[in-house]
Amino acid sequence: MIGWLGEAYPWVKAAHLIVVIFWIAGLFMLPRFLIYQTQTAAGSAEDLAWVARIARLRRIILNPSMILVWLLGLSLAFDIGAFDQPWFHAKLLLVLLLSGYHGWAVGTAKKIARGHRPASETALRWMNEIPGIATILIVILVVVKPF
Ligand code: HEM
Repeated sequence: MIGWLGEAYPWVKAAHLIVVIFWIAGLFMLPRFLIYQTQTAAGSAEDLAWVARIARLRRIILNPSMILVWLLGLSLAFDIGAFDQPWFHAKLLLVLLLSGYHGWAVGTAKKIARGHRPASETALRWMNEIPGIATILIVILVVVKPF
């Protein structure tokens, strides 16, 4: 499998980075939107407008970009034989955690859309720090490859 992308490798890497930017942007936006939504009364017109905005964010940006990040990232990983390299194991762990965070945020959004308020504003503000911290660590791992 090593080198199977051939001349396409830099194009696949560029596409990987483009969808990574979309995914992380969406992950930054979702809890922020949820903070605004939890400030509204459940069932109000403003609440329903947030439900629609968040559903669009999930459908158009978050879910497609996460799937593409994984497909393109795994294509790169098979190309360079990354599964033998320790930096990649650490990256994979962080990306799995980030995907779990994505699932948690989407699940929370669905509960909030049904009128529940499962997370406080403070909890959402703290959770909002996770994508930023994960991005810093992942980029250092892939660029510096410290181990
Ligand atoms: C979802 C699973 C992911 C997989 C399997 C994956 C895998 C990879 C692989 C194998 C490379 C090529 C490394 C190289 O050419 O040396 C790469 C490049 C890169 N990835 Fe990912 N990645 C994933 C998600 C992410 C995420 C979430 C981020 C950022 C938050 C990210 C940031 C980068 C960057 C910045 C590069 C370019 C590194 C360079 O050219 O020096 N990746 N990725």
